[in-house]
Amino acid sequence: MNIALIGSGGREHALCRKIFESKLTNKIICLPGNAGTSEIAQNISVDILDFKKVLSIINLYQINLVIVGPEEPLVKGLVDYLKKNKIKVFGPNKYASKLEGSKAFMKMLCKQNKIPTANFQICKNKNQVVKFLKKSKLPIVVKADGLAAGKGVSICKTKNSVMKISNEIFNGKFKSSKKLVLEEFLDGEEASYFIIADNKNFKFFGTAQDHKRVGENDTGPNTGGMGAYSPALAINKKIEIKIIDKIIKPTLLALKKNGTPYNGFLYVGLMIKNGEPYLIEFNVRMGDPECQVIIPRLKTDIVKIFLSAINNNLNKININWYNKKCMTIVLCSKGYPGNYKKNNLIQNLNKLKLNNNDFIFHAGTKNVNGQIFSVGGRVLNITSKGFKFNKIRMRIIYLIKKINWKQGFFRKDIGWKVI
Ligand code: AMP
Ligand code: GLY
Repeated sequence: MNIALIGSGGREHALCRKIFESKLTNKIICLPGNAGTSEIAQNISVDILDFKKVLSIINLYQINLVIVGPEEPLVKGLVDYLKKNKIKVFGPNKYASKLEGSKAFMKMLCKQNKIPTANFQICKNKNQVVKFLKKSKLPIVVKADGLAAGKGVSICKTKNSVMKISNEIFNGKFKSSKKLVLEEFLDGEEASYFIIADNKNFKFFGTAQDHKRVGENDTGPNTGGMGAYSPALAINKKIEIKIIDKIIKPTLLALKKNGTPYNGFLYVGLMIKNGEPYLIEFNVRMGDPECQVIIPRLKTDIVKIFLSAINNNLNKININWYNKKCMTIVLCSKGYPGNYKKNNLIQNLNKLKLNNNDFIFHAGTKNVNGQIFSVGGRVLNITSKGFKFNKIRMRIIYLIKKINWKQGFFRKDIGWKVI
């Protein structure tokens, strides 16, 4: 099959590698991809929100299957558009993608279906914010309704900061959001649970824990994710059953009843408090960098899994996993998540001696005449598998030191809760 993969991050490089391993794969094109994907696929530079252009490339390259990595094209309806044009595509439809595209939609779905989540109020104006503040304890979490590239959530310790951030959102700080959600703050252990769903069935697709803050000991501003590990040890069998029965099943059923069944990866972001899971967020895709630690643990042919999901027979496929644990550390450009320089040369990558358990997944990189340059904030995901997280982390840090990229930085404490 000829397969097109939409996206350009570490998540897409990990997916691309796994697709490349499949016997069913003939050719892969990445729209637009990165320096890593260019080694095993053909990168084609295109604005992935220009659906017409994407379709014309898919037709030109006689693509049999399209996989959508990131949330923005999903939330904007790329899957619906491609399906209308008779293209086979894996990913949720526009309506179901509101689980991530609108926090207000997600919270209302929770309320209507008694799904455990933090108490909340959807606010369209200042008065509603003031009213919620009167009856709530601090801290309060303020969330822009729409997509905000990981920058839409603020945990506020004072009422003044709630008012300030709410006003910024009402005044148009995020183009995607005219309204916001105020939430009570949940204390507990965070973890993410993944499934792959088709219109009728769903299957487990791994657990992971990422590290969103830029600084060691979980300090500093939020980022897209500085590192992750899988499995997430905070999720045991008892909690898993609760996640499935109280959160996943009612969500999938509600979308099915509405005539808009969910088909795709679903990322269930959780807070575990006193043995009870609470839904923090849904993402309608794999996580980044969570994908980079889940995919190396997957045994089964991923193209077969995608086809089963599209054909609504996930119940007929066994999805198998390796026992080994996996961790990734993200090598970032100095300054990220603030301003950082681009187009810095990364030397020494070819000199690394990787073994079967090591993977370098590229994110913000480009290949210019065989040389690798940084073009983003999160640049490389240094990933390794093994049986002990402390040994895996030592191996990753050893590899990062060999790369010795002076313009980069990374967190040395990924996995601190389990090491
Ligand atoms: P979200 O985009 O909704 O996942 O929020 C980003 C991050 O903010 C989460 O990963 C949590 O660390 C934190 N967060 C969000 N909502 C809450 C909440 N109600 N209580 C505590 N922390 C939260
Ligand atoms: N690592 C968080 C996310 O993918 O949303």
